[in-house]
Amino acid sequence: MSPFRLTRTLPEDTTGAALRTDVREGLTASPRTLPPKWFYDARGSELFEEITGLPEYYPTRAEREILRARAGDIAAASGARTLVELGSGSSEKTRYLIDALTTLRTYVPVDVSESALAGAGRALTAERPGLEVHALIADFTARLALPATPGPRLVAFLGGTIGNLLPAERAAFLASVRAMLAPGDALLLGTDLVKDERVLVRAYDDAAGVTAAFNKNVLRVINRELGADFDPDAFDHVAAWDARREWIEMRLRSRAAQTVKIPALELAVDFAAGEELRTEVSAKFRQEGVREELSAAGLDLTRWWTDEEGRFALSLSVAR
Ligand code: AVJ
Repeated sequence: MSPFRLTRTLPEDTTGAALRTDVREGLTASPRTLPPKWFYDARGSELFEEITGLPEYYPTRAEREILRARAGDIAAASGARTLVELGSGSSEKTRYLIDALTTLRTYVPVDVSESALAGAGRALTAERPGLEVHALIADFTARLALPATPGPRLVAFLGGTIGNLLPAERAAFLASVRAMLAPGDALLLGTDLVKDERVLVRAYDDAAGVTAAFNKNVLRVINRELGADFDPDAFDHVAAWDARREWIEMRLRSRAAQTVKIPALELAVDFAAGEELRTEVSAKFRQEGVREELSAAGLDLTRWWTDEEGRFALSLSVAR
């Protein structure tokens, strides 16, 4: 068998159809919202990479610190022969895990970006001869049909991306992860933790304005894909902490009354001066909440690791 395979589970045109549905529903709702997944075109992915290196944006560094320190423990606790990584991107942080997993036979990176999958897959098969890499082009929020691979299985979902899902979406997502696992298989989950509001807000409103550009990039995506005439300069970047729901919200605030046309949807959207469009929720967690959400999906939290400063956590949970 060839050590690298790439399988497309998404028809090439679903992206356009899903974008049209999301934009129509989100921009005609009150308050207006857009799902964060549309940030990530080539430019948005570059801006996100830039964010991960900003002094204010601690989550990526904190998670890397945990993975570096704990890869051996994670490998020993899971004994996985198959590692499935949801939203794998460049698989950069996963290297620690792959290097520590001496039992590993198959790596299944799952991402919507074919170029990221191909690059990561090629590099890995070269470095680790004998490791089967079966990349899947798929949306991890949809139910996944995984290739038949040897157990035990470890599913990794890193970066704190689970925080970008709303609570009901998180429950559905965790149930779909549980459906990929047999009893005894494990989930490794990255979650950003509740902390001082100023630290959180700074992480999403950096001094250099990279997060503001990232936020506004969704408007450029809609302009390009749907022929819309959003003026990104006519909106201000907003990062706000919702203390009750314990999440950061990114919003775009219309600087003045304006009408935006979206020809592909035959839609005109009126914004009042000061009106806000919610573009992202980034939930922050506590151990008890993570334990409860996992348990509701049939997963028992068995290990909990944080970085030295207690900003970010990796949890290991086992399917019942
Ligand atoms: C790392 C994808 C989860 O919520 O922190 C970074 C993306 N948004 N800055 C996060 C993001 C604004 C993000 N994820």
